[in-house]
Amino acid sequence: MGQPFGSSSSNETNNQIIINIHFMKAITASEEILDSLARQVLMVDSNNQSLIPGYKDIINNGLPKRHLPAKKKVLIIGAGISGMLAGKLLKDAGYEVQILEANDSRVGGRIKTFHKTADHQPFKDPEQYAEAGAMRIPNSHPLVNALIDKMGLGAEKQNFYNVDVAKNDPTQKLFQTWYRTNEVQARQKDYNHQNLPEKDKTLGFPVNDPRWLGQSAGDLLTRAFQPLNNLIDKSLSIEQQVEGWKQIIGEYDNVSVRDFLLTSFDNDEIAIQYVGTLQNLTSRSFLSLLHMFIDSFYINPGETYWEIKGGNYRLPEALLPYLQENIVFNARATEIRWQDLSSSENAGFEGVSVKTINEPSGKSNKGRVSTSRVEREFTADYLLVTVPFSSLRFVETKPMFSYHKRRAIIELHYDSATKVLLEFSERFWEWDEATWEQKIGGKYRGHNSVGGGSVTDNPNRNIYFPSHPVADGNGGVVLASYSWADDAVRWDSIPDEDRYSHALQGIIDLYGEGVRPFYTGHGTTQSWVRDYYAMGEAAVFAPGEITELHPWIPIPEGNVFFAGEHTSLKHAWIEGALESAIRASLEIQEAG
Ligand code: FAD
Ligand code: ARG
Repeated sequence: MGQPFGSSSSNETNNQIIINIHFMKAITASEEILDSLARQVLMVDSNNQSLIPGYKDIINNGLPKRHLPAKKKVLIIGAGISGMLAGKLLKDAGYEVQILEANDSRVGGRIKTFHKTADHQPFKDPEQYAEAGAMRIPNSHPLVNALIDKMGLGAEKQNFYNVDVAKNDPTQKLFQTWYRTNEVQARQKDYNHQNLPEKDKTLGFPVNDPRWLGQSAGDLLTRAFQPLNNLIDKSLSIEQQVEGWKQIIGEYDNVSVRDFLLTSFDNDEIAIQYVGTLQNLTSRSFLSLLHMFIDSFYINPGETYWEIKGGNYRLPEALLPYLQENIVFNARATEIRWQDLSSSENAGFEGVSVKTINEPSGKSNKGRVSTSRVEREFTADYLLVTVPFSSLRFVETKPMFSYHKRRAIIELHYDSATKVLLEFSERFWEWDEATWEQKIGGKYRGHNSVGGGSVTDNPNRNIYFPSHPVADGNGGVVLASYSWADDAVRWDSIPDEDRYSHALQGIIDLYGEGVRPFYTGHGTTQSWVRDYYAMGEAAVFAPGEITELHPWIPIPEGNVFFAGEHTSLKHAWIEGALESAIRASLEIQEAG
């Protein structure tokens, strides 16, 4: 029997073996770039001081007071959470603000809740709602939690249970939800403790190397990450953590998820299929390890999460009263003119100007009354661009931005994410065995718990159950499928109306035919890669991109500034969007 994690015959510890095998590539990024990236991950300044207390203070009390010699105008492209926060901060600091938003009536961008509005009811029960985008707010994300409090929504926060909890004691995580792969179905708690018949312990994956047996896929992945985590352990000084991150970024920047798993599991393809499937990595095997590693801090069974009662859209909407008069809806930026002091092309042109066009009639397959296209032009002293680079790619820029910025706009990888939500008239998953027997009969497949999710290798991949009932109803909306990357792209090929039957089939796979009658016939779905103004779920680095592209992503170009989740190193989180909004607002203030 060999050593776990690595084929080395040395007596080194497992951790040392991993770190010493194939990833000791030459570090190509400069010391300065690595230092800056490490500090952005940790959110610390060059004196090793955390930026977070100051940023929280800005959320609570506004930007530092500065005398503005003359009123300056800032144009902001995008009324997502980063554009909205920056808009409020800059307006409060004395700037004239105008926000250009492509949508004709909605703010919030990728924070979007399917809920009843004056002209649309997504589910049969008008009280039901569900998240199309951001759904879980980690307790460890200080800025978003501060903003929720600041906007008066603190009392509206409720737990989001990523792991299912006991009905009478939500502090108890039960893991009664399921894993189902290769048609082997086991409760997560039984699998996690390997409390299963021998033949089912690897959930149908033909793993036979004894090094990987007897531990759950989650434990195996945690152990694979351990050498990296040791370098940045919270018990180390900030200086040591900066050094640790520099080492990690330098060594792993070019490493894909697949490279890492292959090395960690000694080239055992079956082992990586096993761990990759259960840990939601297979569809993203070609992407950068570093993104998955950073995500592992925020998506793990130990984290506590929040959601806003009634829907997370209430957070961006809470900023609306401060900015209502400053937002121009139905204004998709098509062209940016800016002042490049090093170029002669814009000689005589001062400040920035942005051309916009209104929404097309066919957007989101909803016919619109007005089909005539209206172009408008806006001018200002400064421009803050908060739209995803995937969308910015379609905005003409005169003169062109610097070489590295252009490369980033062209190349930055955006992941796909697709959600299919189904409404059920009964929360059958919460039933205990006796209720299940009485209402459905047959094999008991309920959880007798609240919230959490099941994982499957059928197309649904990840299923999440609501953490709270709405009003007093018995029903609930299940996130029947939440998938990323290649798993999501499959769903994107399917027309919306057909996704519901496929998603229901995936639920029936796990919960049995008996649950079919509880589907109300109402579903919603969101494919973020097909969303005109997001053009992807979020920036998720492909190998190499953190050192090749990121250093230039947040840097201003003359009087044009950049914010949005993709300019932070917390991709795909509201927290990253907020960090970036504060950073960019400070940069604009600094500019005068
Ligand atoms: P956006 O929200 O995309 O805002 C950009 C705005 O610009 C949009 O309003 C858009 O309409 C507009 N726009 C685009 N192009 C143009 C143009 N040319 N002209 C004018 N306007 C334009 N975060 C979490 O914290 N927790 C989660 O659980 C979570 N889950 C997620 C799940 C999914 C499926 C997705 C998609 C995201 C999730 N996120 C989550 C990430 C979070 O939603 C984002 O990081 C955050 O909302 C991004 O905010 P932003 O302001 O950077 O960008
Ligand atoms: N923050 C999002 C969530 O909680 C997405 C995280 C990462 N996305 C990704 N494609 N790796 O679901």
